[in-house]
Amino acid sequence: MNNLLYKHNILNHHTSYMASTAIYLHFLLFILTFCSFIHQLSFSFSSQEYHEALEKSILFFEGQRSGRLPSNQRVTWRGHSGLSDGSSYHVDLVGGYYDAGDNVKFGFPMAFTTTLLAWSVIEFGSSMHDQIDNAREAIRWSTDYLLKAATTTPDTLYVQVGEPSMEHGCWERPEDMDTPRNVYKVSPQNPGSDVAAETAAALAASSLVFKDSDPAYSSKLLIAAINVFHFADSYRGSYNDSLNSVVCPFYCSYSGYNDELLWGASWIYKASGINSYMEFIQSNGHILGADDDGYTFSWDDKRPGSKILLSNEFLEKNSEEFQLYNAHADSFICSLVPGTSSFQAQYTPGGVLYKGSASNLQYVTSTTFLILIHAKYISSNGGVISCGTSKVTEKNLINLAKKQVDYILGDNPTKMSYMVGFGERYPKNIHHRGSSLPSIHQQPQQISCNSGFQYFNSDSPNPNVLVGAIVGGPDIHDNFFDDRNNYQQSEPATYINAPFVGALAFFSAQ
Ligand SMILES: *[C@@H]1O[C@H](CO)[C@@H](O)[C@H](O)[C@H]1NC(C)=O
Repeated sequence: MNNLLYKHNILNHHTSYMASTAIYLHFLLFILTFCSFIHQLSFSFSSQEYHEALEKSILFFEGQRSGRLPSNQRVTWRGHSGLSDGSSYHVDLVGGYYDAGDNVKFGFPMAFTTTLLAWSVIEFGSSMHDQIDNAREAIRWSTDYLLKAATTTPDTLYVQVGEPSMEHGCWERPEDMDTPRNVYKVSPQNPGSDVAAETAAALAASSLVFKDSDPAYSSKLLIAAINVFHFADSYRGSYNDSLNSVVCPFYCSYSGYNDELLWGASWIYKASGINSYMEFIQSNGHILGADDDGYTFSWDDKRPGSKILLSNEFLEKNSEEFQLYNAHADSFICSLVPGTSSFQAQYTPGGVLYKGSASNLQYVTSTTFLILIHAKYISSNGGVISCGTSKVTEKNLINLAKKQVDYILGDNPTKMSYMVGFGERYPKNIHHRGSSLPSIHQQPQQISCNSGFQYFNSDSPNPNVLVGAIVGGPDIHDNFFDDRNNYQQSEPATYINAPFVGALAFFSAQ
């Protein structure tokens, strides 16, 4: 009996021990579940994750390369392409980037992409660490091409290679493409001040990137920038008029060329300090749109970018110009801050800036980049701006920018990263010829214009992962269709990525 009692006691003790362990484990499980729930609610990324995204955002540009690929090419499913671009016109136009999911080299968005990649390095290059060389290489791939386009023939800028209607009618790998590689140019008779002044901006901004690492190349870029700007300014007109059928509706210059003239002059002044460019800005600013508020920053419209650049950079703090540009820069930034009386942007319920149904994320990345530059600027100028009756701090702006970046990386209602190859869920059916067709190394025989459509129409995910590509992104209700046919949402573009490179560098250093 004693024995039994003893046994019973032991059992009892044992049972209560087990029970408390179970309660403890349950509690632990609850805490873990709760934490992961909280994590999902407001998951934030670590510096390492931002850095990983930064690396991928730059790697993407290798997948967009045209020309002869170097031996250190990391995107190995690609091969050489466009090796005779320009030859039938007796010019060398090999190289540069395909703009998006097709194989045309459009000079206008290529130049804008380059300007923003360079600006990313200028503002946030010190946070790029082991990625700084990759970022410079991504810029050089473009500037090598832009130099050829701008300096081969005097008073001529080559602005496009490829016949877009025919090319868009095919689904072909860049390595196979056999549609006409027509060359289009602007000249004194057929001017294009928009594309030329953007090219000047790209070359000038890039000259700053190479100032220390390759001074000879930097000078070459600056000289070319000055010449192409002179051409843009002397022969004024929009490339829309001379090249309408091949640039519209793809990259028409809707905003005209005034915004690019102001932007180009600002970049040359920043790169060179040559006083005549400041005089140009002072005497032409009003005519070129210094007084207009522009609320969109894109490959077409540079107005907000010029205001941020001019007010933040080099104007005398008390000058009339400074007041003008600074007021417009603040007004652009204030328009984006919800809850202020100046607010006039639109955000989806999930919290991402929404400007349009086609390739909306291009506006998110370009705007986020400007917000961060302005935040950096106000941190050394009082730390606060007035938006209507509200005060907006540097921290408010950084939080707003972070929300946009995190949304793109996966903190959004679909719980999907809109950067290919980042995170666990990302778009698998992107609208991109090279990514969706078998690699040239897997299937060397030509896949013709029409045969490619069997891959376009296939339900299988793209065989080649275009790591780092950011797609057009979700609609106004945060819905995203991972559908190759839906180019508005599933097509990547170089100008979506370029400003994101700077934003990711910023957050990787926080
Ligand atoms: C360029 O052409 C497009 C379409 O043809 C037109 O909507 C736009 O206004 C034009 N831009 C300029 C500056 O003329």
